[in-house]
Amino acid sequence: MKQILAIYGSPRRKGNTTLLLDQAVQGALDTGAQVEKIVLRDLKMSPCLEIYGCKEKGRCVIQDDFQKVYDQLLSCHGLMLASPIFFYTVSAHTKILMDRCQSLWAKKYWIDKIPYGQSKPKRKGLFISVGATRGNRLFEGTLLTLEYFFDVLDAELWKALLYRELDFEGDVLKHPEYLQEAYETGKEFAIAVNA
Ligand SMILES: Cc1cc2nc3c(=O)[nH]c(=O)nc-3n(C[C@H](O)[C@H](O)[C@H](O)COP(=O)(O)O)c2cc1C
Repeated sequence: MKQILAIYGSPRRKGNTTLLLDQAVQGALDTGAQVEKIVLRDLKMSPCLEIYGCKEKGRCVIQDDFQKVYDQLLSCHGLMLASPIFFYTVSAHTKILMDRCQSLWAKKYWIDKIPYGQSKPKRKGLFISVGATRGNRLFEGTLLTLEYFFDVLDAELWKALLYRELDFEGDVLKHPEYLQEAYETGKEFAIAVNA
């Protein structure tokens, strides 16, 4: 059974993306998948300090909770990531994680010298996001950020579940169809990861 990592990027414990990711995780578990959860708000993780201590070995030299996350990211076959939209991008918790993965960027492009666009995806990604407003461009910035983050992880974006007009904690509970979709998607994702 291949490992799935579920990363919770909301500062809220019972936020909308949290509830949706819980459903996706449950769907995956119901197929018999193994899922490890990471709640970013519970970790002590410095932002990237741009000192490039990673340039020799491709491993970040800041000794904090990212060290364990780094190993989990590299050993998973499926990554579920959930973040709310904050100022048209991901939450600060999520962005700190992404920036710390600059160590993987250094490994891939400086140390291993992989030509851009030539690595084969090793893992699948499911992205879940929610915003309060309903503009057409609500998720544009985030999806661009995600594309480059996933590239560094050698992950392909298997599916994105994006929901508009959800603002207050628990608003998503008024939309059982969104929760159902997240559950079913979690199931399908686990099956795809294990195929
Ligand atoms: C700091 C901050 C910035 C936000 N920026 C946006 C935004 O740019 N566009 C938007 O539609 N909603 C924005 N929101 C609303 C959140 O996306 C919304 O409340 C969402 O449901 C939060 O998801 P969560 O409960 O999973 O944390 C913002 C909220 C906060 C606290």
